[in-house]
Amino acid sequence: MFWYHAQTKHSWESVRSRPNYLEWEKQPVPFKIYNDFLSMTKLDDANPLHRFIYRIGGITAKKVYPGMEYYLRTIPSAGALYPVEFYFQAREVEGFEDGIYHFDVRNSAVKLLHRLGVEEGVEVYFEDTRQIRGFLFLLSTVCYRSSWKYKKRAFRYCLLDCGHAHGTLEASAWLNDYAATIRYRFDKEALNEAFGFGEREFFLSAAVVGAPTQTRSSYLDLKLPDINPPYEREPVIEKAYHDSLQLQGCRVQNRYEPFTFDKARFEEVIYQRRSIREFHGETISASMLKAILEHLRRPILSDCDEKVSIYYVVNRVEGVKQGLWLEGKLLREGDFSQKAGYLCLEQRLGSESAVTFFLTTDSANYQAAYQKAGHIGHRLYLVSEYLGLGCSGIGAYYDDETAAFLQTDEMILYALAVGR
Ligand SMILES: Cc1cc2nc3c(=O)[nH]c(=O)nc-3n(C[C@H](O)[C@H](O)[C@H](O)COP(=O)(O)O)c2cc1C
Repeated sequence: MFWYHAQTKHSWESVRSRPNYLEWEKQPVPFKIYNDFLSMTKLDDANPLHRFIYRIGGITAKKVYPGMEYYLRTIPSAGALYPVEFYFQAREVEGFEDGIYHFDVRNSAVKLLHRLGVEEGVEVYFEDTRQIRGFLFLLSTVCYRSSWKYKKRAFRYCLLDCGHAHGTLEASAWLNDYAATIRYRFDKEALNEAFGFGEREFFLSAAVVGAPTQTRSSYLDLKLPDINPPYEREPVIEKAYHDSLQLQGCRVQNRYEPFTFDKARFEEVIYQRRSIREFHGETISASMLKAILEHLRRPILSDCDEKVSIYYVVNRVEGVKQGLWLEGKLLREGDFSQKAGYLCLEQRLGSESAVTFFLTTDSANYQAAYQKAGHIGHRLYLVSEYLGLGCSGIGAYYDDETAAFLQTDEMILYALAVGR
């Protein structure tokens, strides 16, 4: 097991012996805003390409509390801290000058940070240096936004949030009849440097929405300034990031199975998606569970597709036996609803759901496996919303007790609850 995962487990004792005090005056701002840029384009709802970008991470709701307001987005985020930043390279895309852009979520705009020369491109840092005609997204994390609250465990949440971003990208791309391929095989450290990240931000993955051409990128003349505000560094997270950069034995997934949703309804779903706060303990139908599982099992286009197992505790599904299931097989029959809630750090979401999911892996490629768990989680959110059900990600669970309950040695990556 990756040392970082073992060091950041929650247990009944750890949660009680290390109470988490928040220093509110140090709360980070969840937006990165470049003041120096070459051009800025406000995203226009009437433009299909702009909508494509907006749906990946744009603001969909605003909450106002005395003394503060915050914004919710198409993407969920542990603690609504939004550590993920979106950059993209556009090449030969109508309405976009060839260049490298930042998605300025706060202003619903894209900012051109760098114009591309003919042979220039971020592809030079990829295993495959062929130039991409279309979009090449680069997803990074400013992990302090999350570690401010979740301390060392935050790297897990940053990876999950980034995986959710793969899910928003995939969904948004499908609406425009594109496919998004997740890429992990590139020199992240070199790009971190070119983007001026220092140790405050780092790239986790990329996504191609486009096609390779015959030309190869031969250089990237980029040196962006570091504009992240200073913060307290979290050495454990920095080490975990660097120690998990090297990939081993990646399996490529090329099989594409496009979604089959009604497009108009699915677009509404993307804008309406929210995390459920409380279930009413109602049942769902067996056909709903079947539709959910079918959707989760669709292959994910990726250059490093790691195996993630999907365990699920059936609490309230008409005509389906209560118990612990794995890949359509009943492992143990029984009412485990209270147990599932307990394992999710005693959150009632886990016990009052119709189904509580636990995603696990024994992958050696920690970053890729964790992001895949977030991606699957995002599919779960969207299909649930589509079916009129509620869903919530649950990043807080008792690691070892969950593994013991599932009778697995694998790492527990994520829990999610679905129901109504
Ligand atoms: C990785 C991850 C972990 C989460 N963990 C929990 C959790 O343990 N308990 C909970 O109530 N909500 C959890 N959430 C839901 C977030 O609180 C929610 O996404 C955030 O407040 C934004 O709200 P929204 O999803 O409605 O847009 C989690 C979300 C994510 C993406």
